[in-house]
Amino acid sequence: MTNGRVKVGIIGSQFQAGIHAASLQIMPHEAEVVAIASPTPGNAAALAKRFRIPRVFTDYREMLRERDIEMVTIAAPNSLHAKMTRDIAAAGKHIVCEKPLAMTIAEGEAMIAAAKRHGVLLMYGEELFFTPKYLKAKEMADAGAFGKVYLIKQSEKHFGPHSAWFWDVNRSGGGALMDLGCHGIAFCYWFLGRSPIKSVYCQMGTHVHGEKTKAEDDSLCILEFANGAVGLVENSWARRGGMDDRIEVFGEAGCSYANLHMGNSLPTYSENGYGYAVEKAPTTKGWTYPVFEELWNYGTPQELTHFAHCVRGKETPQATGEDGLVVLRAIYAGYASAGEGRKIALPYQPPPEVKNPIDLWLNGAARQQTAPH
Ligand SMILES: NC(=O)c1ccc[n+]([C@@H]2O[C@H](COP(=O)([O-])OP(=O)(O)OC[C@H]3O[C@@H](n4cnc5c(N)ncnc54)[C@H](O)[C@@H]3O)[C@@H](O)[C@H]2O)c1
Repeated sequence: MTNGRVKVGIIGSQFQAGIHAASLQIMPHEAEVVAIASPTPGNAAALAKRFRIPRVFTDYREMLRERDIEMVTIAAPNSLHAKMTRDIAAAGKHIVCEKPLAMTIAEGEAMIAAAKRHGVLLMYGEELFFTPKYLKAKEMADAGAFGKVYLIKQSEKHFGPHSAWFWDVNRSGGGALMDLGCHGIAFCYWFLGRSPIKSVYCQMGTHVHGEKTKAEDDSLCILEFANGAVGLVENSWARRGGMDDRIEVFGEAGCSYANLHMGNSLPTYSENGYGYAVEKAPTTKGWTYPVFEELWNYGTPQELTHFAHCVRGKETPQATGEDGLVVLRAIYAGYASAGEGRKIALPYQPPPEVKNPIDLWLNGAARQQTAPH
């Protein structure tokens, strides 16, 4: 087994790639980023300069030829996750795939199979499993603080993503449910000890961004778990005022509330504005909620350090391709539910011709509109 710090390559050079690079710089003891690959000339070099990353590639497949790289993180659009995962696995390197795992269930299954076949780890970039505040809530729940937990809520909302590809359903697979609901579904599943999801009910709409996208910009998702608990996952790309991420836990013997952004910030008023408040904040003037130790509060440094430990065989992955696939199956059921206007029982098998999860909503909604009344 190789010793020393795990050598990491990052695919992508924009938003989440920057978070990966910064996170590994915050906790540099276990891993170091040695290479970055991104197709737009100059972009990878710019990120490399910011984080002193020595090797830069425009084609990630060339980066995969670097023998010393042991773990590769995928911070590229959703539609590329499956192919990149298969390529990384074939190169014999461990994989960290950002959420959501893939566009289709078949892709997700193939990714897991490829990692197994090549004897590498497929780890899933779900940082909510590592978010310190949410971990505290889970620790209390597991210690019996709330008795039997019967309802858990997670919500993530903002005014929509920063890059064009998110709004194109052929590259993203869907809107707020796919992009943000994947966090909430994963969170509820994990919080409840991975109790199987029995059914999904979703309601969604495009309220604010209809000129820009076919995708839903707001969704409500109710999950029933085999252990009797219910999850409520609320997501929005239509919520003004910046990022909002929170949970609520209700049990027979107690409850707990955690607000990740406003709860970890300094309520601030400024006439003049200032440098940076928090992810996706539209302004720094007036009342704002600047966070401190933002990445640490999200849990990404802890997540990636854990994954590096896994590569060294010191820990077992706490967020896996299998978790990502459970979430993807629930997302498919969610879009089918919104399209058909009813609760969908799992396991749910989408029709084979469905290319993107959101098609189940778009096509189903169209069918409902043309149905005779
Ligand atoms: N865990 C989280 O909270 C979180 C947050 C944001 C994004 N994400 C996920 O991370 C992934 C990337 O999102 P983002 O916000 O960084 O998007 P982005 O648009 O900011 O960056 C995408 C990057 O992918 C690169 N890319 C595109 N095609 C490529 C190719 N063929 N080869 C290599 N690189 C290519 C682009 O050049 C760009 O650098 C998405 O799957 C997204 O869902 C996760």
